[in-house]
Amino acid sequence: MDYRGILDIIKPDTDEINQIEKISSKLIKSINKICREENLNAEAVQVGSVAKKTFLKGKSDIDIFISFPLSTDMNVLKEKGLEIAYKINEEYNGECDEHYASHPYLTCIIEGYEIDFVPCYKIDDAKDMKSAVDRTILHTRYIKSHIKEEQIDEILLLKRFMDCVGVYGSEFKVGGFAGYLCEILILKYGNFENLIDEVSNWRYGTVIDLEEYGTSDLFNDPLIAIDPTDKNRNVGAALRSDKMEEFINACRNFRISENKLDFFYPLKKENISRESILKDFNDIGGKTYIVEFEIPEVPADTLYPQLRKTEESLSEKLEEEDFKVFKSGYWTNEKDKGVLIFNMEVYKLNNIKIHYGPKIWVRQACENFKKANGPDCYCLNEFLVVNKEREFKNATDYIEYIFKRENISHIKIGKNLKETAIKTFKIYLLENYLKTLNKEDSNGFLDYLDDFLHPSQHTRR
Ligand code: UTP
Ligand code: MN
Repeated sequence: MDYRGILDIIKPDTDEINQIEKISSKLIKSINKICREENLNAEAVQVGSVAKKTFLKGKSDIDIFISFPLSTDMNVLKEKGLEIAYKINEEYNGECDEHYASHPYLTCIIEGYEIDFVPCYKIDDAKDMKSAVDRTILHTRYIKSHIKEEQIDEILLLKRFMDCVGVYGSEFKVGGFAGYLCEILILKYGNFENLIDEVSNWRYGTVIDLEEYGTSDLFNDPLIAIDPTDKNRNVGAALRSDKMEEFINACRNFRISENKLDFFYPLKKENISRESILKDFNDIGGKTYIVEFEIPEVPADTLYPQLRKTEESLSEKLEEEDFKVFKSGYWTNEKDKGVLIFNMEVYKLNNIKIHYGPKIWVRQACENFKKANGPDCYCLNEFLVVNKEREFKNATDYIEYIFKRENISHIKIGKNLKETAIKTFKIYLLENYLKTLNKEDSNGFLDYLDDFLHPSQHTRR
């Protein structure tokens, strides 16, 4: 295949590279100057995809790490590291946000570029690591010294392919492949097309061990990619099984597709109107309920796993109550709204249910059951049973019940969601809920619903 047309779109040109290098080295010099002035034995280093030249055109976040000697006290590193970052941000009139990995770091917008300033320890061997981010310098060094010049294009193709099929990014919202994992995969399989063939044969628990450390038994993950700079770390740890499955499926689809190049363009979506979405739900049948609640101000990496957990737990409980969930999901505008969605195949039950007692053959147990349940007990297929009024006849009755403070512990709800969910939750039918949304939320949610209805669309072309 000829990928030159794609590479023209995704490979940064000399102009972009020069600009990024210019601003990067300016910032690094400024940081080092501050360190000298303050007599700090720390040093700024360029890491991440910019240092490795593996970033996609127009998509570079610049990662600059402020590395301290191992002898530095952890509190000093945290405090001083952040202080330097704030000073730089001010010097360059940036806008900044504090984030948290293994300790706080600063994300700034300076001259239109997103820049992460991350304090870390300077190490040469992962065994000296004091915080998880310390590995990053080793990663950068490893990739730079092992990747062949021509493999950079292969990495770019892979990142773009993954992005367009929806599996790129190790943040919890996606749960997909990190940039570093893509680089490891190209080192393993040589080039993009060979990778597509190999991944098509992946099994659960596939092991990639570039340095042949033989430590895969330490991990029990769907994909085990031993970090070549640290034998005790699985670079695939953040990859969710569903994203690995989607990637395998996308690779298989790519092999047989007649429109291979289309895989390198984001999916084109046409006319996702409220009416067309509602029509699709109507075609499925059943009823679709929305549970909406306010969300607290927490990072996306905290929010998404908690929404996921809440949705899965409530789904399970609905099934235990004899309702049938056809498909469920979650969505958030990441500002103030969290949403759970339940497309119900069975949403209304009989007024009574059959309450099972012991087998008829066990006399004493039957006597006890009769004593407890009265004279209406009857025989049903070897069992003594009795009809009882159901507590929850409608799925919405059960959801209302669950979100009461005294009942919420029946489900596993994200700990940051609990308070606001109890206080603000509302249940809607989908068609009514859509009317409550403003334009921006509506567009975001309709796009999500389109994926909910058509889960295969991203992984094929
Ligand atoms: P980035 O997420 O910025 O990745 O993390 P990247 O390699 O620069 O790729 P882009 O930005 O998506 O093009 C910077 C570095 O932090 C480490 C890796 O070494 C990565 O290169 N890292 C990040 C991990 O080890 N694991 C992660 O899940 C994320
Ligand atoms: Mn990066």
